[in-house]
Amino acid sequence: MSKLSLDRILQSQGFGTRKYCRALVEDGEVRIDGVVQTGYKGALETAALTLNVFGEDWQYRERVYIALHKPANFECSRKPSHHPGVLTLLPEQFTWRDVQPVGRLDHDTTGLLLMSDDGPFIHAQSSPKRHIPKIYLAFTEEAVTPALVASLLAGVKLHDEPAPLAALSCVQRGDKLLEIVLEQGKYHQVKRMLAAAGNHCAALHRCAVGGLTLDALGLEPGQWCYLEGAQLDLLASR
Ligand code: URA
Repeated sequence: MSKLSLDRILQSQGFGTRKYCRALVEDGEVRIDGVVQTGYKGALETAALTLNVFGEDWQYRERVYIALHKPANFECSRKPSHHPGVLTLLPEQFTWRDVQPVGRLDHDTTGLLLMSDDGPFIHAQSSPKRHIPKIYLAFTEEAVTPALVASLLAGVKLHDEPAPLAALSCVQRGDKLLEIVLEQGKYHQVKRMLAAAGNHCAALHRCAVGGLTLDALGLEPGQWCYLEGAQLDLLASR
């Protein structure tokens, strides 16, 4: 249970600066349980609180955990340079509350991208110590061979990496299609591993993080959803 003043609540949810949030209340744009709020000073219980701002409901969440089906041609960088950023696919409140991608997918990679404003969660999910598997479908330029699969499983040496990197699992799913499971999240890892093993990545899609699959979430490209209890537990499972 936690109590906060209405201006702080609005600010925490990403509605803008404290000053702007106070003005929202003063302008009669904020309702709770259908009642226009006239002051922002009293302490309000945040548990199960639903705000209505500019006529739209907004459920209070102390922290947000989001799954996005990232389409191609969006950048995960905070300062995107050549394509729009992934945050443009989410309500602008999430930019204000500093929601960030958990790790990065390349601009041309599609699939499951986690996002949050919970720093310790982002850190834990990104930590190599957690060994969280990520499942990718890699469409290759050349036909997949048993030798390619064998070298990805045995480990390939990448420039700047002290030790060879190996896939946790690698299964041929088509003539030019591989399902690769990685525990690490190194820069361009799938693409660099495929190149080091003598093939090239034509397209890349992330299907799952831990036990959480994009299929189970049923998200179309560009769609997102909040992740709650059991779904968050799946992230740490294999
Ligand atoms: N590996 C890559 O090469 N790119 C990604 O976006 C993710 C993993």
